[in-house]
Amino acid sequence: MHIERLDLADPGDRVAGLYAVHEALGDPGAPMSPRHFASKLRGGWSGERAETWVVGVGGEIAGGCTLYYPDADNTHMANLPLFAVHPDRRRQGLGGALLDLAIDRARGEGRRLLLGEAPTGGPGAGFAEARGFTRATDEARRVLDLRTVDWASYELMRADAARHARGYSLERWIGPAGEELLDDMALLMTSMNDEPLGDLDMEDHRWTAERFRVLDHEHARSGLTSYTVIARHAESGEPAGFTRLLVDADDARGWARQVETGVIHAHRGHRLGTVLKLANAIWFHTCEPAVERIITWNADDNAYMLAINESMGFRILDTWNGWQLRI
Ligand SMILES: CC(C)(COP(=O)(O)OP(=O)(O)OC[C@H]1O[C@@H](n2cnc3c(N)ncnc32)[C@H](O)[C@@H]1OP(=O)(O)O)[C@@H](O)C(=O)NCCC(=O)NCCS
Repeated sequence: MHIERLDLADPGDRVAGLYAVHEALGDPGAPMSPRHFASKLRGGWSGERAETWVVGVGGEIAGGCTLYYPDADNTHMANLPLFAVHPDRRRQGLGGALLDLAIDRARGEGRRLLLGEAPTGGPGAGFAEARGFTRATDEARRVLDLRTVDWASYELMRADAARHARGYSLERWIGPAGEELLDDMALLMTSMNDEPLGDLDMEDHRWTAERFRVLDHEHARSGLTSYTVIARHAESGEPAGFTRLLVDADDARGWARQVETGVIHAHRGHRLGTVLKLANAIWFHTCEPAVERIITWNADDNAYMLAINESMGFRILDTWNGWQLRI
């Protein structure tokens, strides 16, 4: 076994090797194009510093891990957005060696918590438990099959919900937000801090216009096109809620990702979440008719969001857990 740090300036065939490991995991959810995957190794969505380590056996890449170091908030933790060993190379101590290294690196950065996610009941969960992680969240991925959506009934649901949201207007755009919208988007992103986090030792994310700009441009650089709809309170002009879909322009396998949906506290209770999600799905489908499925990710105790998703026809694909380890 040989472990080395991945030098992104001179990766050789290591990124392709890691991508092959990732593909071998056989994730039934939305696939990642090589470009999207490579961008995850460069850094977190909002500019978090990253480092990747690869483990090789007999000259072949057998696995790897990526660490993210948040620096705008949550500076006590390091995330593991990638932590995998090829299925043919498991139970030979490679994952354990990667984790020992990740713990050392994270401690060296002054972090006291490691976070990872794994499908419930799978090898990642077994590994996490064996290595002393504790389960911090219960989550599920749900999929909406756009081929079976009754668009006329979506229109009716939207009209019905819109009756409760008369004081709001909708705005929408494709790709990064314009400069004039960055402050609004930073404010809207703070609504995501109310998402239930289970027992995760995580503090609120702090958003600024600049941080949101980085997020938007990172999506674009990864080949992801974003479809955003926001609701604005007509009387005050304040942004009230938003929702975003991402589609990987480099991947023709027909998936989109439902990412953030949030309504600012003062504007809750007007069915804005429903209006926004339906409006975005209807618009998105007309712009991207080849996309067949939307995947979304929710905590099991996010009752409001789950009710909206279920009413739209999202159905459970699989369940996941967040795991944390004090180091
Ligand atoms: C998690 C993963 C990286 C572990 O890699 P690995 O090289 O098999 O790990 P190790 O061989 O070092 O295993 C160390 C210990 O973890 C435990 N473990 C590992 N896999 C397990 C499984 N499937 N079930 C139960 N325990 C398991 C065992 O105690 C094992 O020690 P042992 O083999 O002496 O019994 C690998 O299973 C994987 O890639 N899973 C898919 C991706 C994933 O879920 N990542 C976790 C994100 S947090």
